[in-house]
Amino acid sequence: MDWGMANRMARLIPGGRCYFLAIDHGYFQGPTTKLERPGETIAPLLPYIDALFCTRGVLRSAVPTTLEKPVILRVSGGTSMTGKDLAHEAVTTSVEEAIRLNASAVGLSVFIGSDYEHETIVNLSRLVNESEPHGIPVMAVTAVGRELEKRDARYLALATRICAEQGARVVKTYWCEEGFEKVVDGCPVPVVIAGGPKCDTEREVFEFVSDGMQKGAIGVNLGRNVWQHPQPVAMIMALRAIIHEDVSAAEAQEVFESAKAEETRAARAKTDAPKPDMPKGDTPKAETARIDRPKAKVW
Ligand code: R5P
Repeated sequence: MDWGMANRMARLIPGGRCYFLAIDHGYFQGPTTKLERPGETIAPLLPYIDALFCTRGVLRSAVPTTLEKPVILRVSGGTSMTGKDLAHEAVTTSVEEAIRLNASAVGLSVFIGSDYEHETIVNLSRLVNESEPHGIPVMAVTAVGRELEKRDARYLALATRICAEQGARVVKTYWCEEGFEKVVDGCPVPVVIAGGPKCDTEREVFEFVSDGMQKGAIGVNLGRNVWQHPQPVAMIMALRAIIHEDVSAAEAQEVFESAKAEETRAARAKTDAPKPDMPKGDTPKAETARIDRPKAKVW
């Protein structure tokens, strides 16, 4: 592996483990709940991530250019929730653009078993052909569109292996209760676990991530179960502890509870703090981050 590729991989996966924060949902879902203003959503989470997974539009408009964490650029798309088939994706962002945006990796979806299986596998192989000469790793996403019931070990093992055979350096796939170890064992490159729709309890998230890690995954690419949770920072801290500190799901719950208590104490202290006197006629200014609303159009 050349130095550039090795360096990008080491930054994306420090110590062999990773928490990728997924915020690419808008590329087919539009303004997903809690991701309407992505800059505000991610601001408190950035210190805890290993990399950010997003599209070029959100990167340019909502992510600070001072970001020190690596970016995985979502480069496939061309479909929407209202269209006929979510699998009908193409590569929508060039490798040249990924380089201009200083991306550390590119990611695209492959829909095995769909009407667009062939096209999306070829999208992956072409992207690998174009990215590898620049030392840019490709993360393949084994996507199922609306057919969530497809996610059993047999299907996921098939899909992840095909993505690895085409040259993906990392494969993102779903966790499954039965046989996830077979999915990981059959894949010659690192596997990261996708989050999926929001779970009812945080403990469910800790359990499946912990189980997936024990069965060989190197980390997660997870979004909604963190940023749609009322305590996103506590969630990400607990998940980080599972991934980087090998804590169990029960211990992650303790990390979560104590971070939540700390967050609540801090919020209460802020509310209870005496307000400075305001001269008559002055209007308080909203303390909202400006990053989602740049003054000038930036592209
Ligand atoms: C899939 O490719 C999506 O665009 C997300 O990156 C992925 O589903 C992870 O996000 P979540 O944890 O919200 O499912």
